[in-house]
Amino acid sequence: MVRAEPTADRASQAPANAAAAAAPAPSAEPSPFAGQVRRNFARGAVRYGREARLQRAVAWRLARHCRDLAIPAGPCADLGAGTGLLAGSIERLRPELRLLRVDNCPALLAQGAPDTASLPWDLNGGLPPQLGGAALLGSSFALQWLEQPERQLEHWGGQLRPGGWLALAVPTAASFRQWRAAAAAAAVPFTGLELPEAMGLEGAVARHLEIRLCRRLRFSRPAPSALGFLGQIKAIGAQASHGPRLRPAELRRLEAAWPNATGNRLEWEVLLLLGRRPGAA
Ligand SMILES: C[S@@+](CC[C@H](N)C(=O)[O-])C[C@H]1O[C@@H](n2cnc3c(N)ncnc32)[C@H](O)[C@@H]1O
Repeated sequence: MVRAEPTADRASQAPANAAAAAAPAPSAEPSPFAGQVRRNFARGAVRYGREARLQRAVAWRLARHCRDLAIPAGPCADLGAGTGLLAGSIERLRPELRLLRVDNCPALLAQGAPDTASLPWDLNGGLPPQLGGAALLGSSFALQWLEQPERQLEHWGGQLRPGGWLALAVPTAASFRQWRAAAAAAAVPFTGLELPEAMGLEGAVARHLEIRLCRRLRFSRPAPSALGFLGQIKAIGAQASHGPRLRPAELRRLEAAWPNATGNRLEWEVLLLLGRRPGAA
């Protein structure tokens, strides 16, 4: 794997073009939560490729929407790339493109395909300077981990060059209704990550981009047991949350409420969105 050098000094992230100057300055403070997210994903890194079936399917679907886009010359990246599922899918369908894999978890980047360029980078501080004037910014199942998803999304849109594209897939707040219902029935807190509202994300994209595709898709997978499901999330390192941890007695109550309240499947709502920066490419 070819690794691009991280730029430690976020204060030097001056906008690379006039258009970028319109984007708000993202927060530059590294947060304890970002560190927890990185450590969890690092622990699950070796298993991620095998276990992340939903992420693989969504990445492929998003990549298919990029197949016929007129993408101008310029930097292309997969933001929160992990092992590079989205970047790899786009490159298979568009062999002329090379995407920089940007992620805060070096252990996941290291699981990516050899001979691909990657950059360890905390996206809570905004985009790395080399992506100013980007031609394609893709991101799948990553934006929800950032401290301010809407603000970062608006910043991403503002960094695209005229004619440049944003290709986004992100799970939304309408996910996990069954899990919430089971938690309520068991009188325990919902301990999943709070996911962003689709409407707010769509609004953030529309501030800089023309929305060319906007779909809210529903995916579900079998989850016959609460402990089994929580174990699956943990296996890929996606268990970080701002909520409390359940005590053993609370876990037992959640497990007891699970089949009745949830049926046997859990659902995700995934926002799939393509936006283009207005102007001639
Ligand atoms: C569920 S994984 C998705 C990875 C990949 N996009 C995929 O579809 O398989 C979420 C990714 O977001 C990355 N991530 C989380 N917080 C981040 C941050 N602050 N900066 C950069 N990447 C971050 C994680 O390291 C992880 O690789």
